[in-house]
Amino acid sequence: MKDEIIKIKEEILAELKKVKESEALGNLETKYLGRKGKLTVLLKQIAGLSDEEKKEIGRLANQTKKEMISKFKEIKSVISGKGEDTFVDVTLPGEKRVLGHLHPVTIVQNELEDLFKSMGFMVLDGPELESDYFNFEALNIPSHHPARDMQDTFYVATPHPNPLPHPQPLSFARRGESKERGQEETNVDQSDMVMRTHTSPVQVRGMLKYGAPLRCVAPGRVFRAEAIDAVHEHTFDQMEGLMVDENISISNLIAVMKELINGIFGREVETRVRPGYFPFVEPGIELDIKCTICNGSGCPGCKHSGWLEILPAGQVHPKVLEYGGIDPDKYSGFAFGLGLTRLAMMKYKINDTRLFNSGDLRFLRQF
Ligand code: DAH
Repeated sequence: MKDEIIKIKEEILAELKKVKESEALGNLETKYLGRKGKLTVLLKQIAGLSDEEKKEIGRLANQTKKEMISKFKEIKSVISGKGEDTFVDVTLPGEKRVLGHLHPVTIVQNELEDLFKSMGFMVLDGPELESDYFNFEALNIPSHHPARDMQDTFYVATPHPNPLPHPQPLSFARRGESKERGQEETNVDQSDMVMRTHTSPVQVRGMLKYGAPLRCVAPGRVFRAEAIDAVHEHTFDQMEGLMVDENISISNLIAVMKELINGIFGREVETRVRPGYFPFVEPGIELDIKCTICNGSGCPGCKHSGWLEILPAGQVHPKVLEYGGIDPDKYSGFAFGLGLTRLAMMKYKINDTRLFNSGDLRFLRQF
């Protein structure tokens, strides 16, 4: 009998190890401790034993029953959640991880990068702290040229600790490549540094590094000393584009621009071309689209003109090709400057540009 009690106890403990939920636990309890349970039935037989045996086995029986009752209690509390850290239910579905959100400008940028890569363009990076030379001079904007006033520039007060020799694509690399120094180094003083006012300087850096023919886009942050309001920010994003080859004309430009605009909006959008002035292109154009909000009938979004200016562009000025080390008699090209922040505003109908840099998670969680 003693052995039987010990055997049942071991049996119970072994079965308890396999139990994972309360229904199975309840069944097990009935099986052993219920009115007709195995242990209960066995203990009833004690009554038929001799007095001496009763004493010894009775003690063992009571102890075992108590132990088992408390063991069941313990496991019950673990299953009902009070002792979670000692019990893991591997059959429960896992906890969902909270994913972050891409910034709306990043989403638009990624889409455009894909579109341009599909047309054979490479994606270039350039420095945000740029030399006056690349930001202005090499783009045909000499100092004292009135065009310098077209953009409000953050000039960096202290001379740069390491004046950059030029022309030299410093801190410049195709995505994924390590940065390397250009071969040509003439020591013209480049201690005048600015926060780049546009992504156009990457055009010249790209030409110097890769030569012609060339197709590239350069997305990135640009900086202007602006008074900030709903439509003006000191820091925003642009994407520069450049294509240089033999016999590139304004019609190539317009074809690529239309492809681009249809790609952005996912449908055919009506466009118009106007002349525009930028020192680094000749001729320069402004490509407008039919207002996406009012569809041309006039609204505050398009200042009641029915059109939105979205793409300044033009044929690369021969002087800029020369600054890029490319022979303007052999090659021609076009360039354009896309306002990524502006595009994101149109695409997602965001009416205040200050939201982009606000770091407000309630804003970012919507994308
Ligand atoms: N860099 C100009 C700006 O930020 C935009 C621009 C205009 C870029 C014409 C171009 C271009 O490449 O051809 O205002």
